[in-house]
Amino acid sequence: MKRYLQLLILPAIYILTLALSGCENKTKIGFLMDNTNLERWKKDKELFEKTSRELGASVVIKVADSDPDLQYQQAQEVIDEGVDVIVLIPCDITKAGKIVKLAHANNIPVISYDRLIKNSNVDYYISTDNIHVGELQADYLSKISPVGNYALISGPTTDNNAFLLHLGWMNVLQPLIDKGDIKIVVDKYTDFWLPDESYKIMKEFFDNGGKVDAILCGNDALATGAILALKEFGYDGRVLVAGQDADINAIRNIVAGTQTITIYKPIESLVYAAIDAAKKLANGKAPSNMNITVNNGKRLVPAILLKPQVVNRHNIKMTVISEGFINESEIKK
Ligand code: GAL
Repeated sequence: MKRYLQLLILPAIYILTLALSGCENKTKIGFLMDNTNLERWKKDKELFEKTSRELGASVVIKVADSDPDLQYQQAQEVIDEGVDVIVLIPCDITKAGKIVKLAHANNIPVISYDRLIKNSNVDYYISTDNIHVGELQADYLSKISPVGNYALISGPTTDNNAFLLHLGWMNVLQPLIDKGDIKIVVDKYTDFWLPDESYKIMKEFFDNGGKVDAILCGNDALATGAILALKEFGYDGRVLVAGQDADINAIRNIVAGTQTITIYKPIESLVYAAIDAAKKLANGKAPSNMNITVNNGKRLVPAILLKPQVVNRHNIKMTVISEGFINESEIKK
């Protein structure tokens, strides 16, 4: 009798729990990151771990240190570990297409996170409107300096965002260039999003007697490098500088007057949207909140593009501090 009841009750309890949990299996996400050597990505990683827990998903995180072959290997590893969905920050926008193929061969959907994977059947794309990031940067600086010499330092060509930013810059600057008001005196893509490259570019430019009124940088790390060169030649605080990512160092530079603006991107919302979409996909549902499609050269990828915000010395409190992205006490350190 007792054995008979066990055989009846246990499955009943199991079914009841499933019903109560809305029949959702615990989603297992493979989060494949390019690197964590920049402040911004450390935040993405922390927030992804925290938000996965809050949303009842589990996550396996792999960091490829900008090595696309290692990233491919890591994709194989998370597939072997039984993930339901891959959320991918590509090291290389073209080579990452191989990871999409591998995942699809194992019936695993891929969400392109922050950076679009080109020329592939990637399933979804969740990012910020990176063309608009470039437009906001160029618009802000060209309102202050509508005439003058501009330096453009974008990121690596392995990152689609480097091109989107540049597109945004030219959307704003081209009419001023055509009028002869603005002259582009430096226009470079770097190998990495790191300060030493922008430092070298601007130092060489100044060593050759170059004069500049404004510098548009793809991220705050590149802006930091450019500011270092400005300091070396005594131009800091007299040349406009725009960055992106609202790193603490950038906020300090803005307060000090050596950087003009940075761009704050709502990473918390980015992480939430990616995990929410992954859970839906893992439970056989299509994410419903993809409000746009983006052409990646192969297909129109359903996407979410979040809104970026300019941060200048007057709105630090109302933006990155009130959003809890930066702690006020950190700024004064
Ligand atoms: C880009 C990203 C930027 C910046 C940069 C450097 O892909 O969109 O916000 O973080 O990488 O890491």
